[in-house]
Amino acid sequence: MSADPTSFASAAKCVSKHLNLNLHVDFENHVIRGSVEITVEVLEDRFSTLTLDTRDMKVVSVSANGQAACFTMGPKHAFKGTPLDITLPSDLSRGQHVIVSVAYETSPGAPALQWLSPEQTAGKKHPYLFSQCQAHHCRSMMPCQDSPSIKHTYHAQVSVPKELVAAMSALRDGQEVDPQDSHRTIYRFRQPVPMPSYLMALVVGCLESRKIGPRTAVWSEKEFVDRAAHEFSETEKMLQTAEDLVGPYVWGQYDILVLPPSFPYGGMENPCLTFATPTLLAGDKSLSNVIAHEISHSWTGNLVTNKTWEHFWLNEGHTVYLERMIGRRLEGEAFRQFKALGGWKDLQDSVSTFGAENPLTNLVPTLQDVDPDEAFSSVPYEKGFALLYHLEELLGGPEVFMGFVKSYIQLFAYSSVTTDQWKDFLFSYFQDKVDVLNKVDWNAWMFTPGMPPVKPKYDTSLADACLALSLRWIRAKEEDLGSFSESDIKMFSSHQLIHFLSLLLQEEVFPASHVKKMQELYDFNSCMNSEIRFRWLRLCVRSRWEEAVPLALKMASEQGRMKFTRPLFREVFNFAKYREEAVRVFLAHRVTMHPVTSGLVSKDMKVSVDQ
Ligand code: BES
Ligand code: ZN
Repeated sequence: MSADPTSFASAAKCVSKHLNLNLHVDFENHVIRGSVEITVEVLEDRFSTLTLDTRDMKVVSVSANGQAACFTMGPKHAFKGTPLDITLPSDLSRGQHVIVSVAYETSPGAPALQWLSPEQTAGKKHPYLFSQCQAHHCRSMMPCQDSPSIKHTYHAQVSVPKELVAAMSALRDGQEVDPQDSHRTIYRFRQPVPMPSYLMALVVGCLESRKIGPRTAVWSEKEFVDRAAHEFSETEKMLQTAEDLVGPYVWGQYDILVLPPSFPYGGMENPCLTFATPTLLAGDKSLSNVIAHEISHSWTGNLVTNKTWEHFWLNEGHTVYLERMIGRRLEGEAFRQFKALGGWKDLQDSVSTFGAENPLTNLVPTLQDVDPDEAFSSVPYEKGFALLYHLEELLGGPEVFMGFVKSYIQLFAYSSVTTDQWKDFLFSYFQDKVDVLNKVDWNAWMFTPGMPPVKPKYDTSLADACLALSLRWIRAKEEDLGSFSESDIKMFSSHQLIHFLSLLLQEEVFPASHVKKMQELYDFNSCMNSEIRFRWLRLCVRSRWEEAVPLALKMASEQGRMKFTRPLFREVFNFAKYREEAVRVFLAHRVTMHPVTSGLVSKDMKVSVDQ
């Protein structure tokens, strides 16, 4: 078995089966104190030592089956953290179980956690805490075997100040006054479905919830509950569509939590409770594909899991494929094709950002000595999708290929898989089409950087109008600008505006005169749809339109979704005249930013850590 390059834990020796967490959330000191009891199944004879992943934490004591155990902390690795080596009081044999209990305290800088002050929340009265464990940050929230190759169930009890509410990636299992402190409440949770550590999740804040379907509710600070309930009203319909495509939803509840603006991702598929950025609240449900995406992870990712982060495309490629299948059922095939074409543009954008020779643009990269946060891009999503779509075309169309995806999920549910296992199953499922499969250039698709060897053909009916208008702008001389008018985009959906701007962003140069005119006619400056605004401001800064610089920096710092924040800071940074301004704004916001976002933006702008 290939080892996990991102974890110190050895899944060949032993595996975690269940976690029992007892946590005390301390907002004064920005630490979580408590214990984790891990039920470990032993896989080898004469088993006497095990290694857990930790990062930036204090380990107070360790016991095994209730007896004190010796432990040592190894040397700290830049992104893997510090191995916790535990010596058991006595040897165990294959098949035996041991309960290892670790008392610990997290660090205020733990990369999995962001502690927000009351001023950083919508309500301004109470502090807020949220976690983001994917890919390799769970180890900074609890000692664990932090590898997606290992799955466990969990129970948790979390003590928080009584004004606040706790939620986790699990089913809610009651609450009580903390017997140790009547100013606090203990919330209980249970997750009966085995899942990898990166899906552990915790949020504590002044939260409210509203039911929006038989098994779904939205959660957020009360200021956002109504908007969230409206924006995500299609959730149950999407869940049913997904079930129709790939089989029953096994996680019971499907809730959505809308986080404060610094949440670093669009969405995160935490079981029972998807985490979502408030930048999805467009008002018109036009960004709900992110919810279709997170729903899809309930099968691809959360049931069938990538064995290591090198096989991340298995999670994201299949999830984008399912997300677009849901889109196809709800909006039609032309819509799916349009979104697929947009995805191809995103892939081109990522390949050009990383460089077409960069090994991180491989579908299956090597992550030996690579921080998964730095490897993150659209490549696993869109090269993965393009491969699946290409196979769909070769093997007989969407219905036929969905048969494969459904069987893949059934076969590998509750386990973790590698690309080889996926490919072996593909060849056995399509055994009468092996000649077709043998014509695929697998090495080019999987292990070669840059764009894929084949560009799939996508129907362009929804994209044509966007392309035509973008070409008119690209070819226009300054004296032609009078030929444009407000009505050019009157019939465009927000999806088409996004596509139109993406096309302009692919141009090397686009003159400032043009973006100014565009502002005059289309007034994108007042557009609050985050996907449109992001592309628009990026285009303006790239065109060196100085008036847009403060708007771009405002968007980069007022929300922290990395997909927006990193390119916006980078774009202003590359505008020589405003480079210092970009750094200044970043440094001014750094202390209130999410730890992972601020680390990556520092690297993007070459700001040293101690500046
Ligand atoms: N699981 C990812 C987010 C993630 C990936 C967090 C890797 C940390 C490390 C989530 O499902 C995702 O892909 N979100 C996208 C949604 C989009 C592709 C529809 C996002 O955040 O934009
Ligand atoms: Zn995803």
